Amino acid sequence: MTTPITSSTAPSSTDASSSATATSTAAQSHPSGEKEWWRTAVIYQVYPRSFADGNGDGVGDLPGITAHLPALRTLGVDAIWLSPFMTSPQRDAGYDVADYRDVDPLFGTLDDFDRMLATAHELGLRVIVDLVPNHTSSEHAWFKAALASAEGSEAREHYYFRDGKGENGDLPPNNWESVFGGPAWTRITNPDGTPGQWYLHLFDTSQPDLNWADQWVWEQFRGILRFWLDRGVDGFRIDVAHGMVKVAGLPDYTPAEHEGSLSGASVTLEPDISDEPPGAPFWGQEGGHEIFRDWHNVLAEYDGDRALCGEAWVSPPAKLARYVRPDEMQQTFNFSYLETPWNADALHKVIDDSLEAFGEVGAPSTWVLSNHDVVRHATRLGFSEESPQGHGLGPKTPFRPDAVLGLRRARAATTLMLALPGSAYLYQGEELGLPEVIDLPDSARQDPTWFRTNGERYGRDGCRVPIPWTADGPSYGFNETGASWLPQPAEWAKLARDVEATDPQSTLSLYERLLSEREARSLGAGTLDWVDGLGDEVVAFRNGDVTVIANLGQASVPLPDGDVIVSSEPLEGRELPVDTTVWLAF
Ligand code: NOJ
Repeated sequence: MTTPITSSTAPSSTDASSSATATSTAAQSHPSGEKEWWRTAVIYQVYPRSFADGNGDGVGDLPGITAHLPALRTLGVDAIWLSPFMTSPQRDAGYDVADYRDVDPLFGTLDDFDRMLATAHELGLRVIVDLVPNHTSSEHAWFKAALASAEGSEAREHYYFRDGKGENGDLPPNNWESVFGGPAWTRITNPDGTPGQWYLHLFDTSQPDLNWADQWVWEQFRGILRFWLDRGVDGFRIDVAHGMVKVAGLPDYTPAEHEGSLSGASVTLEPDISDEPPGAPFWGQEGGHEIFRDWHNVLAEYDGDRALCGEAWVSPPAKLARYVRPDEMQQTFNFSYLETPWNADALHKVIDDSLEAFGEVGAPSTWVLSNHDVVRHATRLGFSEESPQGHGLGPKTPFRPDAVLGLRRARAATTLMLALPGSAYLYQGEELGLPEVIDLPDSARQDPTWFRTNGERYGRDGCRVPIPWTADGPSYGFNETGASWLPQPAEWAKLARDVEATDPQSTLSLYERLLSEREARSLGAGTLDWVDGLGDEVVAFRNGDVTVIANLGQASVPLPDGDVIVSSEPLEGRELPVDTTVWLAF
């Protein structure tokens, strides 16, 4: 087991320069111990199928991850989170689990997992694995048993089976829609060939929702948690944590439509996992918190500060913070932060709200800009306004990002994020500045969103393309055969890790510098003091001995005194150019 990261509370100062004064403090208290690793960790998301492919079949795997762990140590992250690698028919890239206690042959074996975990721990990297408790795969033995059992049987009680509406029961039991498009119900065929009951699936038809009102389900998941904890994992990322409990009676629900806009083009943001409209009977229900209290106790049976991180798309941060009260999960993703546009007022507000809300329950705030479900931030920030989440971009999308602007802002946004107190999540490839791949051919797409909406929504394949390790060689070093489950763009040669590693101006070099300075200066354990007086379109704060200044305006900004520690772009003398963030030391 690795030694926990030692943290210290950095002193705060009252002013950054003669022209800029600190005006407010958002305190983050840590009453229950300063040293748990997850309070300050930078956690790198490995998306196994696209990270590194050891056997050359075109899909990344556990041996591939093991072989490349030293690169993540060099990068300077503290932990990795692995998206699912358990047995699965892969209808939703592994988020459809058919056996929670085994590794899918696509990714290797349990022995490969143990080797990966041991190697990570030897390198000082913690490992979090993904747990998918809202639904199983329709290939799971529990669901197969439910299909083979009679209506009203115990086996059916583990899921949501209901009679259909209408004279012949041929209408779904309620009007809920799947996050991936289409109805959230599928009708089964009985063993004798007659049409049967319907089952609920908030996601794909191959992902039946488990019934968390059934204590049997609770017992199964306690066992699954212990299975992985016994193997030595440091924690779990909890998939769809806000969706596990549904309102009894499963009432109809009609969400209010709301409008968004992107680059001036008006688009309707349809209800999806990133929306949490008030009153949705399947998101953010109070009963879910009981489950996390139960799991908190399971983790407490083990030493070594094991942690739960919830994927809960709820807002505002005050509601999100309910998931990390002292007897629940340790962390939750801060999607309000991810969804905040590149705008000084909006960033100021979300940072304040987050530090206050999480601070009130004694939890660290987390920060995140990209993951496997959203448009990569190097592309997202290349639009003039916020982009729809989870709908993806493709050749026929009527607007194109400005790629140069997007990367510039992405570097500035990460430079800002990694100076914030708390824990931060990175998504594989963002350290190379990878953009979303927009021009994937239709024939290559695999996201169920694409199929369930008949191509209306492109979905998430564009952020999941296998990452480049070397400029030369087949599939840019992803493997030795050149096979790749999604095609990689030719432009990625210049973004390969081996190219960026030798370029001091590269995005990789920027990330390495940020992570090493963040650790050396204990920024994760620090406190934030806003710095005012630098203009309305500037976000500026002090954390310990570092002053962070981000220029989101239209003109460069004169810099106060201080030595430059790191800057997301070259400075113009003592001027901070637009869309640039700098860290200064005093
Ligand atoms: C959230 C996961 O991040 C996403 O990839 C998946 O499709 C859904 N949950 C369903 O499990």
